[in-house]
Amino acid sequence: MTTTLTLPAKRNCDSQKSLASAQCSVASVHFSSATPEWSTPQEFFDRLNARHDFTLDCCSTHANAKCARHYTADENGLAHSWQNERVWMNPPYGRVIGDWMKKAYEESLGSALVVCLVPARTDTAWWHDYAAKGEIVFVRGRLKFGGQKNSAPFPSAVITFKPQNAEICHSRKEPTI
Ligand SMILES: C[S@@+](CC[C@H](N)C(=O)[O-])C[C@H]1O[C@@H](n2cnc3c(N)ncnc32)[C@H](O)[C@@H]1O
Repeated sequence: MTTTLTLPAKRNCDSQKSLASAQCSVASVHFSSATPEWSTPQEFFDRLNARHDFTLDCCSTHANAKCARHYTADENGLAHSWQNERVWMNPPYGRVIGDWMKKAYEESLGSALVVCLVPARTDTAWWHDYAAKGEIVFVRGRLKFGGQKNSAPFPSAVITFKPQNAEICHSRKEPTI
């Protein structure tokens, strides 16, 4: 069965929690450079966070982190254990994306829940090797990532790797979409 995730109608930073609001304004400043960071739209993250109550953003800068607990490139999120975490992962979109999807899948074989926002590149090795092993939700329309003027030139998907060996690390709420 194919599932789609529709985009929220309107961005409204004022309605977010104080941390989220701060991140909205920080992100809009930080990502005005020409280099796309593909920072997750705050309202898109908020909808998934309401379901999963993420404990860790595994790849971020301090400015675009979606969780108080997060790893930056200096700390290298790939080098840490994600066990017993509910992990938000919007990985770097270059060639290294395969390393991140491998890590996400392998951590979920233990006690990590990992929810990944990735480009829907269904012809790639990482998609077939890892994304296909998770629950796939295709995003309807194109996301407008943080700091970008226009919508992304690629479609996106949300891949959920549920923990395979955990009693405590499950989603907090039932799905609403
Ligand atoms: C697509 S952005 C996502 C940012 C944020 N987590 C979000 O959801 O909006 C990917 C982030 O990963 C960071 N990054 C790159 N390599 C990393 C590494 N080895 N460990 C942790 N973060 C890394 C980049 O600096 C970038 O901010």
